[in-house]
Amino acid sequence: MKLKYYFRRFFYSIFVENFNKKIKYNWESYPLRFEIINKIISKRNYTSYLEIGCFKNETFNNINIKKKIGVDPVSGGNLRMTSDQFFKENQEKFDLIFIDGLHVYEQVIKDIFNSINVLKENGIILVHDCLPRKLWYQTPTRMSDTWNGDVWKAIVECRTLEYIDTYTCLADEGIGVIKVQKNNNLLKLKLSNFKNLKYKEYYANRESLMNIISVEKLINKIC
Ligand SMILES: C[S@@+](CC[C@H](N)C(=O)[O-])C[C@H]1O[C@@H](n2cnc3c(N)ncnc32)[C@H](O)[C@@H]1O
Repeated sequence: MKLKYYFRRFFYSIFVENFNKKIKYNWESYPLRFEIINKIISKRNYTSYLEIGCFKNETFNNINIKKKIGVDPVSGGNLRMTSDQFFKENQEKFDLIFIDGLHVYEQVIKDIFNSINVLKENGIILVHDCLPRKLWYQTPTRMSDTWNGDVWKAIVECRTLEYIDTYTCLADEGIGVIKVQKNNNLLKLKLSNFKNLKYKEYYANRESLMNIISVEKLINKIC
């Protein structure tokens, strides 16, 4: 383990949380995010796609659609800027928005709300990295080479809102799914700050907190 991760983990376990149990999701046995995205695009005859955070274009280059925009301040996509800058300037609407930028709760929840404002009618928002398998994969600063961040907390918050319907698809590190329609399975959880959720609570209650569904259910029933 890298020395910086060791020190960060030491302080995190003392001041925030220490929890050793792991979840055994075997992501290799599930379809990849771009395969799922392409299935939704083709089933719903979508024509426009926005990706927030593109990195090496592993997803962006594999999306088959008429019009695509990829936003990243560092690499990949076709617009070099942060998601905040993009949403400030953007005038367009999109059928499918894939959020995979900065993996911290505060940024993800902002990206979700901004995306809702530029989503076409019957559009879908997908959010990557929603099902971390270990405490160390979901810390707000990186403490492991695999890093999902605390994206999952933004999904829990969305699950408590009446005007959006939120699921998490069991594939590729967990893919959050948000539709702008009445919440079909409202999570009754009142918190003043979802950032304070603990991994231990997610570990024990993830099925209900995240509303986990299979890829088959996502493609055949939700989309
Ligand atoms: C996990 S990678 C994206 C992977 C890509 N979506 C894929 O499927 O292969 C995260 C990317 O988010 C970018 N990023 C970081 N902060 C961002 C921000 N505020 N707005 C948009 N992108 C951001 C990083 O530069 C990085 O390239």
